[in-house]
Amino acid sequence: MTPEQFRQYGHQLIDLIADYRQTVAERPVMAQVEPGYLKAALPKAAPQQGEPFEAVLEDVQRLLMPGLSHWQHPQFYGYFPSNGTLSSVLGDFLSTGLGVLGLSWQSSPALSELEETTLDWVRQALGLSGQWSGVIQDTASTSTLVALICARERTSGYALTAGGLQAQAKPLIVYVSAQAHSSVDKAALLAGFGRDNIRLIPTDAHYALRPEALQAAIERDLADGLQPCAVVATTGTTATTALDPLDAIGAIAQAHRLWLHVDAAMAGSAMILPECRWMWQGIERADSLVVNAHKWLGVAFDCSLYYVRDPQHLIRVMSTNPSYLQSSVDGRVKNLRDWGIPLGRRFRALKLWFMLRSEGLDALQQRLRRDLDNARWLAAQVEAEADWQLLAPVHLQTLCLRHCPPGLDGEALQAHTQAWAARLNASGLAYVTPAQLQGQWMVRVSIGALPTERAHVEGLWDALREVVGG
Ligand SMILES: Cc1ncc(COP(=O)(O)O)c(C=O)c1O
Repeated sequence: MTPEQFRQYGHQLIDLIADYRQTVAERPVMAQVEPGYLKAALPKAAPQQGEPFEAVLEDVQRLLMPGLSHWQHPQFYGYFPSNGTLSSVLGDFLSTGLGVLGLSWQSSPALSELEETTLDWVRQALGLSGQWSGVIQDTASTSTLVALICARERTSGYALTAGGLQAQAKPLIVYVSAQAHSSVDKAALLAGFGRDNIRLIPTDAHYALRPEALQAAIERDLADGLQPCAVVATTGTTATTALDPLDAIGAIAQAHRLWLHVDAAMAGSAMILPECRWMWQGIERADSLVVNAHKWLGVAFDCSLYYVRDPQHLIRVMSTNPSYLQSSVDGRVKNLRDWGIPLGRRFRALKLWFMLRSEGLDALQQRLRRDLDNARWLAAQVEAEADWQLLAPVHLQTLCLRHCPPGLDGEALQAHTQAWAARLNASGLAYVTPAQLQGQWMVRVSIGALPTERAHVEGLWDALREVVGG
């Protein structure tokens, strides 16, 4: 494709995206296709000769669009909001179009410095002290993996420079809430701790980690001659947006010199609202934290913000310094390759910068407040109906619901819940996520897609009451 052709088709593609966003509400929210539908429609091998780009765009509409569940739809209440503001979409486009890589500061100085600057802007917006420095990772999964690798190395006295984890006399132990996201468990396994050395700490009636249970678990492990290493706490758990008490957890972590990593992947966005900051009171006691700007905040996926208090740990663990990457300014700059696992770094900060400049913090705050308000409104409707239950406090924009008509319990209630959620999703009217809480089925309604207004949530409430009737 020549630059001239790119200009022509680029305009068409932007039109396609703009039309899609303007009309997405007319589509069924959940894809209505069967497994294998696309593979059956596509050729078995790549074309030998190039095709007109019109044909490719046509196939996007004809073949791909029906196979999408629409996360940017106003009736999308599944999983969590993964908002791609159009300003950030343009930033992503520019990043790819420029095609530059940040292997070192010198390999693209603007890339490194924009990342440093925008992460500091967001730090301030989140109300974090000046002691934090940030870097962009692809996902929270990676951020948490990086945190646990750093924790492992700090506790082991940087064993990676000698015999590594395999030379440790005592097994290193990680403590996580029983409600932690699966990525935390995965990170602990990938960081080499081993299943036997992950402690699942019980939670309270509101699904928040119980500090006294954490303290007891640490004491048990010390008595058994094991080496406590790290705690992962969550601000806004995936199932119910539970808030682990960071102040109490941080005090325990500090007393035992454990690394405290805070997973605020979803709820961290809300910390741009001063009225929400009580939710992570004690955050300054943490060693690292992650906030996914690619969730509710609105930066097009992927843009996970990882902050650390002392970058030296990160750099000691992640640093590589082959001769071909060295430059005369190395002592004066940040080389972001030392701040994460991959060497190559794309210009992700552009989409964050585009969004922050184009929307401004006021508009972001307003949108999040709108969503919190909508969630409170729906919670009030649910609470007012005898046949409906809210299963967890609505701290943010996620509701955990169950419809419990009189006389229905046990297996019948489980089947009823799964059946109405499936009916609602199949209807295409709205998309919700059925999930288990303490082994019982419930339905999560996660409000906060960009175009979701009060009228949409009212429509959802109508649809919910209708769909439970069968
Ligand atoms: C609390 C929490 N942590 C971690 C994740 C994983 O995020 P990512 O997909 O960026 O790895 C999620 C969301 O899926 C989440 O809600």
